[in-house]
Amino acid sequence: MDLDRIRAVCWDWNGTLLDDTEICRQVMNSVLEEHALPVLADGHAYRSVFRFPIRDFYGAVGLGDDLFVPAATSYLELLAARVGEAQLHADARSTLCALQAYGLRQVLASATLPQALARQMEPHDLGAVFEQVLSIDDPYRASKHEVIGAWLAASGLAANEVLVIGDTNHDREIAHDLGAVFLHFDGGHQAWSGDTPRIEALGSWSTCWLRSACASVPSRSTEPRCRLPSHGIVGCMAARQTPSSSEFREWLRAQPALTGTAPRLDLTDLPDDPVPMFLEWIRTAAAGGVPEPHTATLATVDGAGVPDSRTLILKDADSRGWAFAGTRSSGKAAHIGAHPVAALNFWWQPHRRAVRIRGRVEEVSPAESEADLAARSAAARDGIAPGDWVLWRILAERVEFWQGAPDRNHTRIVYERRGGEWSRTVTGTTLV
Ligand SMILES: Cc1cc2nc3c(=O)[nH]c(=O)nc-3n(C[C@H](O)[C@H](O)[C@H](O)COP(=O)(O)O)c2cc1C
Repeated sequence: MDLDRIRAVCWDWNGTLLDDTEICRQVMNSVLEEHALPVLADGHAYRSVFRFPIRDFYGAVGLGDDLFVPAATSYLELLAARVGEAQLHADARSTLCALQAYGLRQVLASATLPQALARQMEPHDLGAVFEQVLSIDDPYRASKHEVIGAWLAASGLAANEVLVIGDTNHDREIAHDLGAVFLHFDGGHQAWSGDTPRIEALGSWSTCWLRSACASVPSRSTEPRCRLPSHGIVGCMAARQTPSSSEFREWLRAQPALTGTAPRLDLTDLPDDPVPMFLEWIRTAAAGGVPEPHTATLATVDGAGVPDSRTLILKDADSRGWAFAGTRSSGKAAHIGAHPVAALNFWWQPHRRAVRIRGRVEEVSPAESEADLAARSAAARDGIAPGDWVLWRILAERVEFWQGAPDRNHTRIVYERRGGEWSRTVTGTTLV
């Protein structure tokens, strides 16, 4: 499925996000027992016979004709007492979060009356995920079809930019009538009938989908779509005050990794020295729209051997080493004073490229440090006393260039300096 075209997902609630099928089967069995009819022995029996219009379902289990109205009344009363027991499907929350983080609009559409729907949704705290919750306010005159149609008309979206995910043929018919794309979630009320695209688990489907969508982002895009904004976790996980650790793990598993497209890498033409290669990679990252490619993580160790790391800006890279700067009163200055070593790590997305550099650290001449301070903006110079600004250089002993591949056959090019000479080792065979 082409995610590039899809801008919004319209979710069905009962059976698709809310795992209430077994509760509904048990409630229906109570009604069948009241009428001395054979019960639906298991989920398979229930899902095979469930259908729309709902009157047909009742007819199929023996509750047709005159029995329909009293049986349906009894069913709804019994169900109202039990539906609060239903949990979300595994991966439902993390799927909603991942799609939200990707930037898709999401709405929920249900044929349940607003108050009843609100009661069903309340324990699951999903309000921040949906731009609208669409429900019917008149069970005799409105249908889910109409409320989705009204939302679509006002949404500014073309019908084929909307993906409807539901668990019944009724959802499919609505999607097709409106001209939207449809996916049958085959873990809900109605068994898949074999003539629509199907998903069996929300989490693995969305992970796959997002991964392939991100992989198709052109590497030279100035606005990479795969920069998953933090509102994925803020809007979803944080809205729920105390997400359980399993929900958090689920959410983490659903986050796409190694998305994007790696630039072409010619392993037959590598330089003998890591500096030109670093300069080429950082320029490629900048040209490909990687935000702030000169930002890196610097790791140091204190006098007791305790490590620490922080984000900073690269100031220079040439045959003398990789330069960074900070104040003499900073933690890193104390660490370097105790142990003059450091490691620097860059991660460039969506290029799937990382570079790490490590080696001895030297403080450069006072004149160079002063020149770096002078080159900063007035605001950045403010409050820094003369002599307090230091430029350091990592005299690299090892530089690793890492390029990730979706098949996990990552390429690793390692330069090591011994006796003033660089040696090079290449592992991973992906030539991209
Ligand atoms: C994007 C970004 C760029 C930064 N650039 C620098 C920098 O160039 N130099 C610096 O000393 N701190 C920089 N900082 C602040 C450091 O992350 C850190 O807070 C500070 O250096 C103090 O850490 P330390 O006490 O471990 O040395 C930057 C932070 C961010 C988020």
